[in-house]
Amino acid sequence: MSDANLAAATAQIEAVRRGEKPAPMIRSFFDEPTNTATHVVHDPATLEAAVIDSVLDYEAASGRTSHATAQQVVDYVRGHGLNVVWQLETHAHADHLSAAPWLQEQLGGKLAIGAGIVVVQDVFGKIFNAGTAFQRDGSQFDRLFNDGDRFSIGGIEAIALHVPGHTPADMAYVIGDVAFVGDTMFMPDYGTARADFPGGDARELYRSIRRLLSLPRETKLFLCHDYKAPGRDYYAWETTVGAERDGNLHVHDGVSEDDFVAMRTSRDATLSLPKLIMPSVQVNMRGGHLPEAEDNGVQYIKIPVNRL
Ligand SMILES: [Fe+2]
Repeated sequence: MSDANLAAATAQIEAVRRGEKPAPMIRSFFDEPTNTATHVVHDPATLEAAVIDSVLDYEAASGRTSHATAQQVVDYVRGHGLNVVWQLETHAHADHLSAAPWLQEQLGGKLAIGAGIVVVQDVFGKIFNAGTAFQRDGSQFDRLFNDGDRFSIGGIEAIALHVPGHTPADMAYVIGDVAFVGDTMFMPDYGTARADFPGGDARELYRSIRRLLSLPRETKLFLCHDYKAPGRDYYAWETTVGAERDGNLHVHDGVSEDDFVAMRTSRDATLSLPKLIMPSVQVNMRGGHLPEAEDNGVQYIKIPVNRL
């Protein structure tokens, strides 16, 4: 099957590797409570930057939000004189709240996510009975990416790839010669993302992962999460296409689609829901904004009982 957008991403990666186009600089920040890696990518020539998958601190017991984790990103960006032009989300996360609106206030940048967010908004808008005031057209975001859409960070070229399966809206961002793959794969020794959330699909996830693993072997992959793997006592969020193809526990070369789907489906049946799924989804479907205040001026997070 011809895949013009993947071919364009491959050509972009190869041009950077030949030195014909500039390579990005990357700094990652790991949030241990949610096991999330936030990445800041910048063009060393222009100092334009993108923040990928930021984290708003949220204490479930008290319902309090805070910004210590996101502040680390602010300090790094200001300390290096970077100019943030994008706040990128790989998907509507179910395990942490996005800090993108707060980071936009601090640092600027256009907020972007995959165009499939409208499907997520429809599904979860119903589950949370969000009402007619909740727009399900993606209008909470500045840009909705479709597969193959191009954007830039200073002189660094980037391509958005639609990689559904974990959720219907997942995107991977190929920026220069590096791919930010969100929740598709994890480190080779840990495997792959679950595919059992509403709208998830293990067969689609397999196809999305194999598509990403068709990028050049040397391509660096930056992940959204790490949970350590048995026998590994440190966090890691950077690997390569070659390392995943050779050694990913779930999807190394030779694992068939049917075998993957059977493994993923039976494994997902054993997983409990993420601790922060209720607040995360209802905030992240709103582009990281808390629900509107009620008539007493207080914002509430809802919990649907016996629904998920
Ligand atoms: Fe996720």
